[in-house]
Amino acid sequence: MALQAALAPLGSRGTPTLGSLPLLLLSLGWMLPSRVQAADSRPGVMTPWLRGTPWDLSWQRPELAAILPRGRRDTEKKGCPPERRARVVDENLVFYEPWELAACVDGALLAAHMDRVNTLPFTYQQLEVFKRKLDQLYPQGYPESLVQHLGYFFRELTPKDIHKWNVTSLETVKSLLKVSRGQEMDAQVAALIARYLAGGGELDKATVDALAAFHPTYLCLLSPEQLGAVQLSVVRAARPPDLDACGPVQMDVLYPKARVAFQNMSGSEYFEKIKPYLGGAPTEDLRALSRQNVSMDLATFRTLRPEAVLPLTIAEVQNLLGPNLAGLKAAQESSPGRDWISRQRQDDLDSLGLGLQGGIPNGYLVVDPSFREALSGGARLLGPGPVLTAVPTVLWTLVPN
Ligand SMILES: *[C@@H]1O[C@H](CO)[C@@H](O)[C@H](O)[C@H]1NC(C)=O
Ligand SMILES: *[C@@H]1O[C@H](CO)[C@@H](O)[C@H](O)[C@H]1NC(C)=O
Ligand SMILES: *[C@@H]1O[C@H](CO)[C@@H](O)[C@H](O)[C@H]1NC(C)=O
Repeated sequence: MALQAALAPLGSRGTPTLGSLPLLLLSLGWMLPSRVQAADSRPGVMTPWLRGTPWDLSWQRPELAAILPRGRRDTEKKGCPPERRARVVDENLVFYEPWELAACVDGALLAAHMDRVNTLPFTYQQLEVFKRKLDQLYPQGYPESLVQHLGYFFRELTPKDIHKWNVTSLETVKSLLKVSRGQEMDAQVAALIARYLAGGGELDKATVDALAAFHPTYLCLLSPEQLGAVQLSVVRAARPPDLDACGPVQMDVLYPKARVAFQNMSGSEYFEKIKPYLGGAPTEDLRALSRQNVSMDLATFRTLRPEAVLPLTIAEVQNLLGPNLAGLKAAQESSPGRDWISRQRQDDLDSLGLGLQGGIPNGYLVVDPSFREALSGGARLLGPGPVLTAVPTVLWTLVPN
């Protein structure tokens, strides 16, 4: 009732038709709560509405479009009636038709008074007009001075818009995360974090914690150090595509977290969950999986660290891959299959009957795995060629038969 009372005098100032729309929307409960809130000028009266209320209002767009007369929406090219020209951003604008806003409000005025825009109960359609105005004013992307004051208007923006920005202030990131909570803004948040980190920004613990409220599409954007601060709940929420862009150093941090996050799960369920993280798994853990006959697929095998795979015996790899072992033939030219094969005796490989090539020629003696430490550079392990040429002189002995 307070809302209606607050709006009534405003409504009486506009023409009856113009004024009736927001009131109609209000009485039907169709307006964005945070914007309705602003109609009551007492600060903080409805602050709870502002904070992360999970209103999904996306369904309202077609409804709004449906009740606005189509003819009016197509008349944006009309000129502004002189008496309607906007010189300030105030509550009168709430009663403007979208075409009037398009014709009578200047993008620069909006950009300069974003804070004011955010306190007024504009409809989605009106906000869309504002967004078009700002996009026209800044086709190369909003300047950081505007981004800093976007507030709730951030919800109107797309990831594509955000990718044009420069964001250097952690305060800005924090304020935009706050208005994004519960709004299905995961992609926008990932874009925001990407821009901030691309500009050399650092995330503090509080921000990494705040990020836990969003789906972790941003995960691989974080440095190993930032990943270290990520909560287990974030790891549990991550889906395999979220991890696609993570490199080995990130996996080294994520794997131990995932191990803890999924530790209460059993056998095959655990394996399904831990699978996307195995790029960070050490040899002992691969051995443990091999004992459980997990039947790892080759796509997962290809993500394993060569150093972790190298010490596995033929029997261990056989158990690890199970029925997928035959796929090793196709994986023998790439890491880690190639590296592992180059460490096996060729006649052991032959016994698998898969036609694997590149093992240690029969007649050579395999030296204890610790020989790796004796080699100064890991690079020499990367292919069968260098290993075989380097090794006879240093470590391997030709066994007389
Ligand atoms: C972002 O920064 C670059 C380099 O300073 C500048 O060229 C570009 O115009 C800026 N973009 C925006 C949208 O401010
Ligand atoms: C494991 O723990 C997590 C977090 O405590 C919980 O959400 C999940 O349901 C648990 N799973 C099982 C199988 O107990
Ligand atoms: C794994 O497979 C081997 C051989 O097929 C079998 O002896 C062993 O019991 C299996 N282990 C598990 C945990 O299923």
